[in-house]
Amino acid sequence: MAQLWGGRFTRQTDKLAYAFNASFSFDRRLLPQDIQGSCAHAKMLEKQGILTQQECTDILRGLQSILADAENSTLPMTDEYEDVHSFVEANLIARIGDTGKKLHTGRSRNDQVALDMKLYVRDEIGNIDSELKELLETLLKLMKENADTFMPGFTHLQKAQPTTLAHHMGAYFEMFRRDRGRLSDVKKRLNLCPLGAGALAGTTYPLDRAYTAELLAFDGPTRNSMDSVSDRDYLLEFLSALSMVMMHLSRFCEEVILWNSNEYRFVEIDDRYSTGSSIMPQKKNPDIAELVRGKTGRVYGALSALMTTMKGIPLAYDKDMQEDKELTFDAADTVKGCVRLFADMLRTMHFNKERMADSARHGFTNATDAADYLVKHGVPFRDAHSMVGKLVLYGIQHQKALDDFTLEEFQAVSPVFQDDIYDAISLTTCVEKRNTAGAPGQKAMAEEIAEAESYLQAN
Ligand code: ARG
Repeated sequence: MAQLWGGRFTRQTDKLAYAFNASFSFDRRLLPQDIQGSCAHAKMLEKQGILTQQECTDILRGLQSILADAENSTLPMTDEYEDVHSFVEANLIARIGDTGKKLHTGRSRNDQVALDMKLYVRDEIGNIDSELKELLETLLKLMKENADTFMPGFTHLQKAQPTTLAHHMGAYFEMFRRDRGRLSDVKKRLNLCPLGAGALAGTTYPLDRAYTAELLAFDGPTRNSMDSVSDRDYLLEFLSALSMVMMHLSRFCEEVILWNSNEYRFVEIDDRYSTGSSIMPQKKNPDIAELVRGKTGRVYGALSALMTTMKGIPLAYDKDMQEDKELTFDAADTVKGCVRLFADMLRTMHFNKERMADSARHGFTNATDAADYLVKHGVPFRDAHSMVGKLVLYGIQHQKALDDFTLEEFQAVSPVFQDDIYDAISLTTCVEKRNTAGAPGQKAMAEEIAEAESYLQAN
């Protein structure tokens, strides 16, 4: 057992209790952040005359060598250490001697761990943002290629009105774009440096907290030292933003699963992202999409677990907060993996355009347009609605799409119908006429695509 305390103890910690309390098995991944924070702290101590120049140089060199050796596995990260902070300090002292004992001057593990987690979240926001950007690029490509790929739009999972694949992909583009915005908001709010808050009440050493903050690219130091060590809001905001990403991915997966089903056949997931059955030779299952949908629960779980952990903690630091790590690491890893795989699956997915258009043609998705036709010829909308309702009923009974009715069949319901009804309710017209901003018509869609493109260039 290598621990940073022990002076006031007369007995060794129980083995089980030690293992229960230790966090090194999971917080070892904070090593780069811990070293980064320690280097900044050492530089600040030197600037303030608390460390000599030589001491600072020795500490920095020692810290860098620990990181390098841990990364190339010449320094084993074994379970004898309580946490990443003890690991670094013990090894620093082993390498540079007594000077290593000075690094922790004016610092507590409480502000240290708060800093490490903020640095970690900041890094992960960058990584997840890049993954989301790649997904947006895939979506934009699909939008550009499919402005005239007709498909039914649904409400209540019932065919509603015709739209295009570009329009449908554009909806997801907006969701993931907002997700990036949310993550960047989290980063803005968390970007104050807790280092120098000490255990909870600051310190009597003349620390320059603004300098440390600047070295670590924060906007400044945190304002209240108690809040600095007990605040985990940024993790909850992060987990909440991640939950939203998963919710969007999960809805998308649900659609991909439906579209890939034997009944829909709108898409075929590439073999590389499908799996087979051990018993049924014909099966090609959308397991990846199902797993992404399933893992959504796991990320929501992290948010709700940490919310619950935080709700009863008196100020300032309490060990409950150590629970934040595995939850956050797991959620970030899960989201990164899911966004990446989903984007790959989407990029390689085959869209059965014929089948989508055919589905849009059947199922009366042009019924609203037939009613609008009557309205344009002077029929009040409510009457038009009812007349077209009758046509739909007739169509269902005779298994006929509106497009396939004879003019006599139309006129049996209203003499207002003339030859130009066919053009008015054709799939092309139905989509093309919808050019209000944000609608699937070519003109509106071209604007949406251009805007999406300039957003991606700027962000
Ligand atoms: N492993 C601890 C955590 O993750 C580090 C902080 C420990 N501080 C303390 N006072 N015991 O929260």
